[in-house]
Amino acid sequence: MDDLREKYLGLIRDAADESRLEDLRVQAIGKKGEVSLAMRELGRMSPEERQEAGPRLNALKDEITSALAAKKAALGDAALEARLASEWLDVTLPPRPRGLGSVHPVSQVTEEITAIFADMGFSVAEGPQIESDWYNFDALNIPGHHPARAEMDTFYMARAEGDNRPPHVLRTHTSPVQIRHMEAHGAPCRIIAPGRVYRSDYDQTHTPMFHQVEGLAIDRDISMANLKWCLEEFAAAFFEVDKVEVRFRASHFPFTEPSAEIDFRCSWVGGQLKLGEGDDWLEAGGSGMVHPKVLAAGGIDPDVWQGFAFGLGIDRLAMLKYGIPDLRAFFDSDLRWLRHYGFAALDQPTLHRGLSA
Ligand code: PHE
Repeated sequence: MDDLREKYLGLIRDAADESRLEDLRVQAIGKKGEVSLAMRELGRMSPEERQEAGPRLNALKDEITSALAAKKAALGDAALEARLASEWLDVTLPPRPRGLGSVHPVSQVTEEITAIFADMGFSVAEGPQIESDWYNFDALNIPGHHPARAEMDTFYMARAEGDNRPPHVLRTHTSPVQIRHMEAHGAPCRIIAPGRVYRSDYDQTHTPMFHQVEGLAIDRDISMANLKWCLEEFAAAFFEVDKVEVRFRASHFPFTEPSAEIDFRCSWVGGQLKLGEGDDWLEAGGSGMVHPKVLAAGGIDPDVWQGFAFGLGIDRLAMLKYGIPDLRAFFDSDLRWLRHYGFAALDQPTLHRGLSA
C-alpha cells in the first residue's frame, strides 16, 4: 500500500497536463485501477486483516483523489499565469509619435477669407485653371490687340499642329470666374472665387503660380460705396483689428469702369506691420464697377444690373498677416517651413472663434 501511495503521488506530482492526470486517475482508482483492485481483495481477507486494510485503502483512495484535484487546480492556475504573462499589455505606454501634417498658410488664409465673406452673404464659386482665351481675355473686354494681354506674362497651352484656334491659357487671374458665374446663375449675385492663377514671373514677391480671390456682387443698385464697405469690413476682420480705412486709387482695368486700386491704411514700425493705423498704405488689389461689356458678355442686361468686382492676392495677405518674408518658399514643399508656418489641422477659422485661433 505504501508502494502504491508513493508511486501515484509521485506520478501525480510530475504530471505535465490534465490528460496525463486523467490517465493516472483511471490507472489508480478507475474501475480496474490498482487501488480499486486492491479493494476487491478485501473480501478475501480475514476480518482482522480487513479491519486493518479497509480504512487504509479508503484513506489512500481519498488521498489520491485529492492529490488529483489539487494537481488539476495547480495546472489550471499555471496555464492562466502563462496566458496572462504572454498576453500582457502595458496600457500606460505612450503611443508612438505620429507625423501630423499641417495646414498650408494659403489654405488657412483662403478659409479665413471664405469665412469673412460668407458672413457678408458671399458664396464660393470656382472655375478651371486651364481657361479659354475667351473667358480669360475677350469676355473681360481685353481684345486681342489689348496691351493687358502682353502685360500679363501669360502661359499658353500648345495646340496640335495645323489647329489655328487661339490656344488655351493658364488663367492669369480669377476674373474669368465672373463670366462663368454670370452665365450659369445670372443676376443678382454675390460670390467670391478663390483659386490658383499663373503668370510667368519669379522673384521674392512673385511666383509663376499664385492665388487670388475674386469678388463679384451684382444687383440693381450696387455702388462703389458698397464695395468700399465690404473691403473695410473684410480688412478689419481679416487683420483682427477694429477698423481699417480703405483708400481707392484711380486705376484702369479693361473689365471695370471706374477702376480703383485698393489700399489699406497701415504703419510699418521696426519692420512690424500694423493695420488700421499710421500713414502708410498697403496695396491689396484691384477693383471697380463691372464694365457694361463684361455684364453683357456674361449674359446680364447692363441697363438693369450693375455691380462691383475686386481681386485680392491671397498669398500676399498670408505673408502680411503671418509675417512670412519670401513668397517663393510657399511652394518649395520644405517640411521645416511647413512645420513652422503651418496651422493645426483642426483649427477651422470662424469669425466667432477668432480667425487664427
Ligand atoms: N483681375 C485683376 C488682376 O488680376 C484684378 C481685378 C479684379 C481688378 C476685379 C478689378 C476687378 O490684376
